[in-house]
Amino acid sequence: MAPPPDGITHLADPGGRAAIRLDAAGGNAVVAATGAQVLSWRTPHGEMLWTASRPEYAAHKPVRGGVPLVFPWFGDHAARTDLPAHGFARNLEWRVAAEHAGPEVVLVAEHDATTLAMWPHAFRAQLSVALAAELTIAMTVENRGDAPFRFEQALHSYFAVGDVATASVHGLDGVPFVEQARGGEVGADRGTPVRFAGETDRIYQGTPDTLVLHAPTLRRTLRLRTQGARSAIVWNPWMTKTARLSQMAPDDWRAFCCIESANVREHAVELAPGQRHTLALHVAVAQEP
Ligand code: BG6
Repeated sequence: MAPPPDGITHLADPGGRAAIRLDAAGGNAVVAATGAQVLSWRTPHGEMLWTASRPEYAAHKPVRGGVPLVFPWFGDHAARTDLPAHGFARNLEWRVAAEHAGPEVVLVAEHDATTLAMWPHAFRAQLSVALAAELTIAMTVENRGDAPFRFEQALHSYFAVGDVATASVHGLDGVPFVEQARGGEVGADRGTPVRFAGETDRIYQGTPDTLVLHAPTLRRTLRLRTQGARSAIVWNPWMTKTARLSQMAPDDWRAFCCIESANVREHAVELAPGQRHTLALHVAVAQEP
C-alpha cells in the first residue's frame, strides 16, 4: 500500500486497534476503524470530544465517547430484543477506502452475511472525516439492493463541556421534541436555550442546520452545522442513569453532553435502489482566551 499522504498517520488506539490520525494546522483527530468512530479531536485549546473515565477499546465495540455512529436503527430495535441498540454500524470493522491530503480519510462498511441477518438490505456506508479549521464528518449511505429501504442514523457526538449544569444548546427555539426520559412527553422550547438540570433525552424533529453549544466552564463555544440531518438528539443521562451505563464512572455525567446530528423516527431516510444520502456535520470552535 502506498504511504499515506501528508497529515495522515496509521497508528494503534489505546486498545491496540487500528486507527488513523489526521494532523492539520489547527489540531488533530483520531478515527478508529472499529465503528469508524472519531475518538478524539484536539485543538490548541484541548480536547473537544469527551470520553468516559473507564473506556474500553475492544474489537466490535464502541468506546463510550467521541462520535459513535448510529445506523440503521436508533435506540432499541423495534421488534427484536436480541439486536444491538443503535444498530450495528458502531460495532463493525470499517476499512480505509481512501486518504487525501487536507487531510481526509474515508472509511467504508458494506452488507455481509452478519448484517443481512440483522437487517435484510444490501448497503454501502461511507464515513469521511476531514480536518481543517473545522472537523467535518460525513456519512453517506447507498442502497445497493433492488428494493427501497428505510433507515435511521446519527452521529452520536459526545462533547466535553466541563460542567454540564452551565452548558446550553442554542438554536432549538420552537422546535418540537419528544422527551424520552419522561415517557415520551412532547414539548417545544420557547425563546430559551436548552439547559441541563436532570436527565435529558430529547429527540428534536425538523431541526435547523446550525446549533450552538456554549460551554462557559471551558470558555468555549462549538458551532454545529449540518446538511442532510432533520433530527437532533440532546442527551445527558444525569446521575441515576449513569450508574447503568457501561464505561462510566459515577460522576461522568457532569462533564459532557451529546448533541446527535440525526435522521430518526418520522425523519428516517428512505432510499430507492441505487440512491444515496449524505448526512454531514461541520464543527467549529470559538475559544475565549
Ligand atoms: C441516546 C439515546 O441517543 O443514546 C439514549 O437517546 C441512550 O436513550 C444513549 O441512553 C446512549 O446509548 P448507548 O446504547 O450508547 O448506551
